[in-house]
Amino acid sequence: MKTVTEALIPLLQSSQSPRIVNLSSLYGRLRYIPGDRIKEEMRNVDVLSEDRLNELLQSFLNDFKERKLEENGWPTSICAYKVSKVAVSAYTRILAKKYPNICINCVHPGVVKTDMNCNTGELPVEEGAQRPVLVALFPDVAVGGRVAEVEPADGIASDSPPSFPAREEKGPPLVLRASLSSLAWRDSKEI
Ligand SMILES: NC(=O)c1ccc[n+]([C@@H]2O[C@H](COP(=O)([O-])OP(=O)(O)OC[C@H]3O[C@@H](n4cnc5c(N)ncnc54)[C@H](OP(=O)(O)O)[C@@H]3O)[C@@H](O)[C@H]2O)c1
Repeated sequence: MKTVTEALIPLLQSSQSPRIVNLSSLYGRLRYIPGDRIKEEMRNVDVLSEDRLNELLQSFLNDFKERKLEENGWPTSICAYKVSKVAVSAYTRILAKKYPNICINCVHPGVVKTDMNCNTGELPVEEGAQRPVLVALFPDVAVGGRVAEVEPADGIASDSPPSFPAREEKGPPLVLRASLSSLAWRDSKEI
């Protein structure tokens, strides 16, 4: 994810409306990190650097191998997923601070029926996919470093994916307007 992002940032800088939408999860909430020191480091992107984030993730891996997760303040259940998603949210906020001209956010897509959960999710993939697309294309998303939890779009049947306007068309299509009311933002450092 970091490599792709770094490769694309020069291209994005030449866009008039650059955006990055990372896929996070509600499991990326800081409340899933039991250790206060780690939680505070992950929260405070005024201090947290990409290098320090890498160091924290390396210490998670070391503690996992040495069976010291609990002792050192890491989650012990679904631990790799939770830590990776907390890191995605922290990285998103670091990027948003570093590139204020790029609108950078992350999205929880919902619990979607995919390979990851052996198709046990609640939503069809078409609906899960709408959510990051919505955040990528929605005209008034101006602030970066947040997590969007997008509720099912009003009036959109799951078998009728939304169509998005050509760039030159004015205003969002109705389907986006209908979805807007249910776009709930959370500041990812507060969740
Ligand atoms: N499904 C949910 O309920 C849910 C909920 C919250 C968040 N999310 C997030 O949504 C995103 C998509 O998940 P999904 O549900 O669509 O999962 P998925 O069906 O398991 O798909 C994951 C995709 O990521 C690719 N991938 C995995 N590791 C990779 C790597 N190291 N390098 C490059 N590609 C890699 C896989 O490629 P291969 O097919 O080649 O293995 C696969 O195409 C994930 O970030 C997930 O955490 C999903």
